[in-house]
Amino acid sequence: MSDLFASSEASSSRLSPVPSSTASAFDASPFESVPTFADVEPGDNQRWTTWPAITPSERGPLPWPAWVVTSAGALDTELGILKTGKEADVFLLERAVPDDPAQGTLLAAKRYRDTDHSSFHRSGVYTEGRSTRNTRDTRALAKKSEHGRAVAAAQWSFAEFDALCRMWELGAPVPYPVQVNGTELLMEFVGDANGVAAPRLAAVRSDRAELADLYDQIVDLMRIFAAAGFAHGDLSAYNLLVHDGRVRVIDLPQIVDIIANPQGLDLLHRDCVNICDWFTRRRVERDAEELFAEMLAASYA
Ligand SMILES: Nc1ncnc2c1ncn2[C@@H]1O[C@H](COP(=O)(O)OP(=O)(O)O)[C@@H](O)[C@H]1O
Ligand SMILES: [Mg+2]
Repeated sequence: MSDLFASSEASSSRLSPVPSSTASAFDASPFESVPTFADVEPGDNQRWTTWPAITPSERGPLPWPAWVVTSAGALDTELGILKTGKEADVFLLERAVPDDPAQGTLLAAKRYRDTDHSSFHRSGVYTEGRSTRNTRDTRALAKKSEHGRAVAAAQWSFAEFDALCRMWELGAPVPYPVQVNGTELLMEFVGDANGVAAPRLAAVRSDRAELADLYDQIVDLMRIFAAAGFAHGDLSAYNLLVHDGRVRVIDLPQIVDIIANPQGLDLLHRDCVNICDWFTRRRVERDAEELFAEMLAASYA
């Protein structure tokens, strides 16, 4: 089923749900029972996958990781809120093909706020999911949102998506960016298979040796940013997740060009101070000026 629908932006009409009136018993293959859209109705906390309607440039970098669900027969199910914030809320989402355990994955959906409330779970989930299965409707929806604060909100989601793509391609440990659609960014969920999110560094209780290792990982990822000319710009123990002993950096909409941005050096310095202060308070003494110098060297190399 996935292959049938996977590379289908050229023919979006195929993505329309099969009306039950035209799906007769004769259409059914005798060899397999694949559920058609007519058999599946999204529930209150569900919508059809938005993947088929996403233009290629708004999908994550190639090659797509094997776990990315590309089937147009998938449903997005909202499983809960990971965190509400000032500019964005982060939800736990499952994207899965009903009755196909091989095609299912957990995603983090970061939704930037605009003037409207998120329409995902409040109203018309079913209608909305349907309408975004059509690329023309998606464009119309996107147009409608090109006003006022909605534009600003979408600019943040696109900025974060671009930053994640860039850093992913450089090999930095960021969540894989799956897609961006208006104000909603979908990315790899960092956590376990049960939907328990990885803790932020701020909540991690480790001994000094483990902390020292986490620090080294953070320096490594900062060096990748710096070598590409960037600072994270909001680096702290709250924007670093620790999963199975590995650090992932999140919350990238504001990454800054160290040289081109007049605040670039200050923000890089602040990142260094935030990190070194945090570790030093936990008796892993690290020198912010030394780190700053190392990052500067990396950015000029
Ligand atoms: N990809 C992800 N996987 C798991 N949890 C995430 C992910 N992205 C964000 N979160 C959770 O949501 C919180 C807020 O995300 P963040 O991008 O930092 O947004 P904010 O702008 O609100 O700080 C994070 O601290 C983390 O707990
Ligand atoms: Mg954050």
